[in-house]
Amino acid sequence: MKILFYGAKNYDEQFFLKLLPEYPGITFQFIEANLCPETASLSLGYDGICAFVNADLGTKVIEVLSVNSVKLILMRCAGYNNVDLTAARRHNIKVLRVPGYSPEAVAEHAMALALTANRHTHKAYIKCRENNFALNGLMGVNFYQKTAGIIGTGKIGLAMARICRGFGMNVIAYDLYPNKGLDFLTYVSLDELLADSDLISLHCPLTEQTHHIIRQETIDKMKDGVILVNTSRGGLIKTGDLINGIRDHKFFAVGLDVYEEETDFVYEDMSERILQSSTIQRLLSFPNVTMTSHQGFFTEEALTNIAETTIQNAQAFMNGEELKNEVTS
Ligand code: NAI
Repeated sequence: MKILFYGAKNYDEQFFLKLLPEYPGITFQFIEANLCPETASLSLGYDGICAFVNADLGTKVIEVLSVNSVKLILMRCAGYNNVDLTAARRHNIKVLRVPGYSPEAVAEHAMALALTANRHTHKAYIKCRENNFALNGLMGVNFYQKTAGIIGTGKIGLAMARICRGFGMNVIAYDLYPNKGLDFLTYVSLDELLADSDLISLHCPLTEQTHHIIRQETIDKMKDGVILVNTSRGGLIKTGDLINGIRDHKFFAVGLDVYEEETDFVYEDMSERILQSSTIQRLLSFPNVTMTSHQGFFTEEALTNIAETTIQNAQAFMNGEELKNEVTS
């Protein structure tokens, strides 16, 4: 079984190559190019392709994969909002993913962003390096006894809820499908969560329903001085409305690991380029915004689990076994 691994970074190769000898019959070819309409044709001769969150798996790409007789799309991530599942089904291409490789990795990063944005650690570090030991501009707020609002209580949302509990926070949550019998959080309506939370952390997937769940109308319902963290998907937040909210002093701090325009830059070194879009620069120009580049998942434990589950998904497909990580809708 031959798999073409798109968008390979050195750390991907390292973690996959460590495990592959345990899975005879499966070979991976790693290429740096990411999957998009221009590179989809490289899949000729492969049984499957492996792609990440920043790949383009729209209708056009799926059609090329189908013409090349590719039968399997291995997503080495949890989210799959970048895959045209209808087109994949039409062409009888199976889509498999890694549902929960390390919820704690993302949740811990969400808390790191919340703390960094709140306590201005990123600025304090630079100030200290320049022998500026003044505290002006660095004041934060306590999380202890404040209210954390978790939107989406799946694997990552629950891990974040537990972390917030550990900080002595009161945890409230909103989910379309609440879990029963949890004693460390209370489910409320979305409106209640927006009104009562001091820290709001987004952990629902990007769907038609959640697209721009954070927009002017929902921002208006938030407490003044709220801290907002997004480690889920950029499309959950309408960026223009967020910028307006920041200008209106609605937010004490904002921490973003994902943002709407990230697909063109994420995981690329663009430091020598002149970027055509100014949204990221506008966000970063605000003193209370902290950004990272979709690195919530990036821990040794998560990369090991991603490699293991992706290869096991390929093996299950190869052996005609039950595809427990198949994405159908
Ligand atoms: P999950 O599938 O375990 O949980 C998602 C939760 O959101 C479920 O409880 C679901 O009922 C809820 N939900 C769905 N639609 C909703 C709606 N309209 N309103 C409220 N809740 C809704 O997913 P998991 O593993 O917790 O991941 C969450 C998201 O985190 C992923 O979809 C992905 O976008 C993002 N992610 C980000 C990473 C990063 O590196 N920054 C890494 C991995 C995932």
